[in-house]
Amino acid sequence: ALITLRQLLDHAAENGYGVPAFNINNMEQGLAIMEAAAATDSPVIMQASRGARSYANDLMLAKMMEALAEMHPSIPFCVHQDHGNNEETCLTAIQHGFTSVMMDGSLKADGKTPADWDYNVAITARVAEMAHWVGASVEGELGVLGSLESGKGEAEDGHGAEGELSHDQLLTDPDEAVEFVRLTKVDALAVAMGTSHGAYKFTRKPDGAVLAMNVIEEIHRKLPNTHLVMHGSSSVPQDLQDIINEFGGEMPQTWGVPVEEIVRGIKHGVRKINIDTDNRMAMTGAIRKVLTENKQEFDPRKYLKPAMDAMRKLCTQRFEEFGTAGQA
Ligand code: G3H
Ligand code: 13P
Ligand code: NA
Ligand code: ZN
Repeated sequence: ALITLRQLLDHAAENGYGVPAFNINNMEQGLAIMEAAAATDSPVIMQASRGARSYANDLMLAKMMEALAEMHPSIPFCVHQDHGNNEETCLTAIQHGFTSVMMDGSLKADGKTPADWDYNVAITARVAEMAHWVGASVEGELGVLGSLESGKGEAEDGHGAEGELSHDQLLTDPDEAVEFVRLTKVDALAVAMGTSHGAYKFTRKPDGAVLAMNVIEEIHRKLPNTHLVMHGSSSVPQDLQDIINEFGGEMPQTWGVPVEEIVRGIKHGVRKINIDTDNRMAMTGAIRKVLTENKQEFDPRKYLKPAMDAMRKLCTQRFEEFGTAGQA
């Protein structure tokens, strides 16, 4: 059944687990997520970015979510707007049946210019007020995602802040987080502590200098009743890098967020963990393998089925690792 982010994360907090929020753009990803959830008895957060909405079409996405919910009536299912950039994006998502929206006011509506405090508070509070009128939940973001290693925001990926950012902008300030939640009334808060979107997060296995999990612990001490969200939380597993490169890919060596760091976060208030890149890599590795090994093949089902299987496997792992399994 469809439920809000608030309902789902309240249960996660009461029972001490985290919920992966997987991005969806197409039917195969939707089926893979639901099959993994059904097999592990897990609640689901499925999220669509603005890019996903224009790729698949709002109506197609909405009907697909509806079909997935109907196919799995016993799975608690939250449909979430990922990185909403303004009021219109958030309200049209709710109009299409989304039960939750992220208003990302850490960046201006262009999705790349870092925003100031007043802008972020005003637009997030406005969206939270309107969403709450109609029973939808809201995630806000304070602090800008980007690399503590380079001091750079993420630009090339097409999302995230452009240019050099100060250490302060890249780490959420715990006292400001308290004030932000009080002023905006968000249901969940995304915080910045050194992760970034995409595959190229760290140039070696991250330590506390580049992945500041201690910031999360401090925020949770000051905001024990706020659900925290980690963005950019793909782990970029070595075996997925290897399979892509073994079958003709050219991804330079890279490191993501170790699962054990996420598990540590879950002990300190992290309830929603955003994962897209790992699933993209799982699907791409499987597709590359089929097409390399079967050069005569041209039926899309012959590579989309293995791609779905690979994504289902990744989702199943995260449900188990985050303690989501068994909670539906
Ligand atoms: O926010 C990042 C997610 O990976 C969605 O990415 O904007 O390319 O759909 P996207
Ligand atoms: P990854 O790129 O690490 O998967 O992060 C996804 C994300 O944060 C979506 O909002
Ligand atoms: Na989000
Ligand atoms: Zn994100």
